[in-house]
Amino acid sequence: MEEKYLNLVKSAYEIRKMAYTPYSSFNVGAALLCDNGKTYVGCNIENGAYGPSICAERVAFVEAIKNGERGFEAIAIVTGPKDADIYEMGSPCGVCRQFMSEFCDDDFKIIMTKMTKEGELLDSKILTMNEILPSRFKLKDFKSI
Ligand code: THU
Repeated sequence: MEEKYLNLVKSAYEIRKMAYTPYSSFNVGAALLCDNGKTYVGCNIENGAYGPSICAERVAFVEAIKNGERGFEAIAIVTGPKDADIYEMGSPCGVCRQFMSEFCDDDFKIIMTKMTKEGELLDSKILTMNEILPSRFKLKDFKSI
């Protein structure tokens, strides 16, 4: 894997430690690489009313968008039960796919990882936006706003 993506995975691994998951104990970290080289990170944050919980991917995007970023290259994701020894590969949920779709081109990369709890990368898979959400809905395709 390219150095810049390895660094992105490291950032996702680190921010995963900040996940707030008293209900699922399933911790997720995400690191988003912008076209300008900057990285924004997010972790999942749960809520006792369940519905308001937010995934790591969307937290990373919200952080980037509110800082003015509009061009994105890739997102790395590290998922797994809080106390697992191995973090198995996980892919973004449907809501996150649609959320990311708003801001991403077809070739935006989703980097999924399998890691040890110490942060060693065991395996990875890279899919594009088009692959994880084909025939996606984009209001922008219909009207200029
Ligand atoms: N979760 C994420 O943060 N990202 C995903 O792509 C899938 C699921 C979170 C939501 C919830 O806090 C926990 O993982 C279990 O579903």
